[in-house]
Amino acid sequence: MDVMKNNPVVMLAALFPCLFFKIHICLGADTISANQPLSGDQTIESAGGIFELGFHKPGNSSNYYICMWYKQTSLDNIVWVANREKPVSDRFSSELTISNGNLVLFNESKTPIWSTKVSSTTSTTVRAVLRDDGNLVLTDGPTSPRPLWESFDNPAHIWLPGSKLGYNNRTKRNQRLISWKNSEDPAPGLFSLELDTSDNSYKILWNMSESYWTSGSWNGKSFDNIPEMGMRQNFLFNFSYFTDVNESYFTYSSIDSTIKSRCVMDVSGQVKQLSLFGLTQKWNLFWTQPQRQCKVYAFCGAYGSCNEKSLPFCNCLRGFEPKSQSAWDLKDYSGGCRRKTKLQCGNNISIVQNGEKDKFLQMSSMSLAEAAQAVTTANNEECESTCLSDCSCTAYAFNNSSCSIWTGDILNLKQLSEDESTGKTLYVRLAASELQSPKKQNGAVIGAVVGVAAGSAVLLGLIALLILRQRKKVLRHGKAVVEGSLVAFDYRYLQNATKNFSEKLGGGGFGSVFKGRLPDSNVVAVKQLESVNQGEKQFRTEISTIGTIQHVNLVRLRGFCSQAKKRLLVYDYMSNGSLDSHLFQEKNSNVLEWKTRYQIALGTARGLFYLHEKCRDCIIHCDIKPENILLDDEFCPKVADFGLAKLVGRNFSRVLTTMRGTRGYLAPEWISGVAITPKADVYSFGIMLFEFVSGRRNTEPFADGKVKFFPSWAASIIIEGGDVLTLLDPNLEGNVDVEDLTRVCRVACWCIQDDENRRPSMGQVVQILEGAIDVNSPPIPRSLEIFVEHQENIIFFTESSSRHSSQARSNTSNASSKVKSPTP
Ligand SMILES: *[C@@H]1O[C@H](CO)[C@@H](O)[C@H](O)[C@H]1NC(C)=O
Ligand SMILES: *[C@@H]1O[C@H](CO)[C@@H](O)[C@H](O)[C@H]1NC(C)=O
Ligand SMILES: *[C@@H]1O[C@H](CO)[C@@H](O)[C@H](O)[C@H]1NC(C)=O
Ligand SMILES: *[C@@H]1O[C@H](CO)[C@@H](O)[C@H](O)[C@H]1NC(C)=O
Ligand SMILES: *[C@@H]1O[C@H](CO)[C@@H](O)[C@H](O)[C@H]1NC(C)=O
Ligand SMILES: *[C@@H]1O[C@H](CO)[C@@H](O)[C@H](O)[C@H]1NC(C)=O
Ligand SMILES: *[C@@H]1O[C@H](CO)[C@@H](O)[C@H](O)[C@H]1NC(C)=O
Ligand SMILES: *[C@@H]1O[C@H](CO)[C@@H](O)[C@H](O)[C@H]1NC(C)=O
Ligand SMILES: *[C@@H]1O[C@H](CO)[C@@H](O)[C@H](O)[C@H]1NC(C)=O
Repeated sequence: MDVMKNNPVVMLAALFPCLFFKIHICLGADTISANQPLSGDQTIESAGGIFELGFHKPGNSSNYYICMWYKQTSLDNIVWVANREKPVSDRFSSELTISNGNLVLFNESKTPIWSTKVSSTTSTTVRAVLRDDGNLVLTDGPTSPRPLWESFDNPAHIWLPGSKLGYNNRTKRNQRLISWKNSEDPAPGLFSLELDTSDNSYKILWNMSESYWTSGSWNGKSFDNIPEMGMRQNFLFNFSYFTDVNESYFTYSSIDSTIKSRCVMDVSGQVKQLSLFGLTQKWNLFWTQPQRQCKVYAFCGAYGSCNEKSLPFCNCLRGFEPKSQSAWDLKDYSGGCRRKTKLQCGNNISIVQNGEKDKFLQMSSMSLAEAAQAVTTANNEECESTCLSDCSCTAYAFNNSSCSIWTGDILNLKQLSEDESTGKTLYVRLAASELQSPKKQNGAVIGAVVGVAAGSAVLLGLIALLILRQRKKVLRHGKAVVEGSLVAFDYRYLQNATKNFSEKLGGGGFGSVFKGRLPDSNVVAVKQLESVNQGEKQFRTEISTIGTIQHVNLVRLRGFCSQAKKRLLVYDYMSNGSLDSHLFQEKNSNVLEWKTRYQIALGTARGLFYLHEKCRDCIIHCDIKPENILLDDEFCPKVADFGLAKLVGRNFSRVLTTMRGTRGYLAPEWISGVAITPKADVYSFGIMLFEFVSGRRNTEPFADGKVKFFPSWAASIIIEGGDVLTLLDPNLEGNVDVEDLTRVCRVACWCIQDDENRRPSMGQVVQILEGAIDVNSPPIPRSLEIFVEHQENIIFFTESSSRHSSQARSNTSNASSKVKSPTP
């Protein structure tokens, strides 16, 4: 310490850091110029601190690239790479600078290896500025009319909001996204996303040639194949198309500027739209195209077989091995597989193989690529010998006198499950030594086991032990099976993950929820479903539907377990728990600020809107209450437990109407017995909105006894134009936007109208909360009037009446008259 204090150099450095670092750090921290170059571990940062640019080494790679990344998140955050194909290994002796009017990267031996290649001016005012939208812009001084070059015109694998993806008719350049080669190498890979100017659609291409997905044409609002893109409430992005003689492109912006977003052409061959909310470290996946991994053209390469129900998705056919195991380890499967043993046919190895002819491996339940040729043969044997006689034939398939022959490498093989009716049987040619018994796929293994077992009972025991061990291993590694986007967990595996269901997070009418930790250290919430009386098959069908529902305001279902009578659901764990624990708090504890409450309300509304109107089948949640609104680490709300109504089936309404803590949120139609529509959720949402305002449960009486039921009191104040601030949670101490508060109270009043036709749709609620449409003063809901006048007759708002209304449920016609009769 003393040394440091008395050392004048150290003191100077502390006082004038600029003297000791490259000058540019203190001048324009977002600018590169001829005398402010970038080298070593220096970076530049956009003015608002959103993006950063510098030398970076992706993953375990030993190479450095000039990368731009989101500064706020550390995970998977690279949005742009300059020198994709030409890395440097020593960043300290490499330099990114302005040279002859261009931004140029010089490698260790001062050779230019990457350049913007636009101008040839010797002007000294040329500079590159990193902007807050992620655009690196080269201009000739601050007064230059037009940028000389922009990174937005030269995207790498990511399409950022505000940047263009399209065709430049002046330069004849297609501004396309190209995937990385693998997870550590940003060099251009095989998959690309680009605009097809012939029909204004996007296409995903393999090797710039084979299209395996198209967005459909732009219809002015959205693309034909992705209508949800045009839905602003759902998608949060505003897409627009621009075209003139010079260029045609699409661009998009986030409706909500606090949401960071990126659209990536992933190494998986899928385009993924991801968003980052607030300061979270996690990217939320909005959508993926193509949705199924195995739809990606040639994803597993030659002789690779894609199986959506296994991880990894790609496997080599029997008798083959990955051409490059290291590439497979980096998730680049495109190199495919090679034979372990050469074929006899066409190769001069007849002596080694004793002249034994090649044989065929039978593979059932396959989805096949198009065959090279089809010939007519009488039967399977004839088809086989046709293939055998041609050394270039690598596989055949036979069906009803049609014999399909493949020559050369086989691409796009897909393993289907046995119950998929489109599955076909493929016969793959292998060297005879690879196949002991050509008819049975497992023949070799079984044969070996039988042989040994016959020899010795001791050995048999050993083998059994081995097999058991092997099985155990599979179970311990657990996530053996992936169904669609869901993981089918083994029960014992979840038992381990939750430490035998020891850490309870919550409970409810449909089962308890436990915290668990998966071996990949992801934390999950495991729900043990009770009262599910569906069969296995129906359960899986429902689950797979729920699994496809993904929205930033819905809790993501990760997997499930369905074994014997056990039914469990595995969800993402939400670190901030449920809304009720934050909303209904004692004074002096952490009060949820008004702004946060508003965002939670809006997010919840968006999630519900998605369920109601954006899923293939409308999903009515039926159980909206603060306990079912979960909050992630950034207080982004996620609606939980959707889709349970169908899972639980017949018992659902019985459980719901008798469940403690739910009744106060139920719409009158639950009691009156008329059909339930999405408007029942709107009602519950409205009831909950009042609780955002008051910070207390509606069912909880006020201490002074004057206010019996908060919503009716609030409604009367709204309608009579009273002071809305008197409604506000006193813990907020008046820190509120009165306009927002009024809007929330009004929309809440509309939501709880008895007549469901008078309630707004969830889509309208979203628009109102977004401020896109105004909301009038609402009429007073009738049942609230009744409540004020004849409290004792309203049975569905209070806990104590639960016995009453479960009777009402079982005898609906009486019940409806009971509720509705006291109308004035
Ligand atoms: C880097 O290598 C280590 C050890 O081989 C491995 O555990 C880790 O997952 C790798 N990291 C990445 C990002 O691939
Ligand atoms: C710099 O780049 C040039 C051209 O690509 C190459 O020949 C040279 O070996 C590189 N220098 C180093 C030290 O890698
Ligand atoms: C991609 O196409 C080029 C020709 O356009 C070809 O030379 C190359 O082999 C192809 N790549 C793969 C992996 O098939
Ligand atoms: C969407 O973007 C277009 C073009 O950038 C703009 O004119 C329009 O106002 C935007 N709409 C919304 C709702 O942000
Ligand atoms: C592209 O530019 C040429 C002239 O260079 C023009 O004839 C053509 O119409 C333009 N194409 C589009 C799609 O605007
Ligand atoms: C197209 O580009 C040319 C040359 O840069 C320019 O003069 C012209 O105004 C542009 N046309 C349009 C419609 O922007
Ligand atoms: C095959 O091997 C034999 C013995 O080594 C040799 O005599 C013959 O020329 C080879 N044939 C071909 C086509 O290479
Ligand atoms: C076999 O061919 C017939 C038509 O000849 C077709 O209907 C049937 O689906 C095919 N079966 C399989 C398994 O491909
Ligand atoms: C096979 O195809 C022929 C005509 O192509 C048809 O008459 C016959 O019913 C088919 N048989 C089967 C089993 O599909």
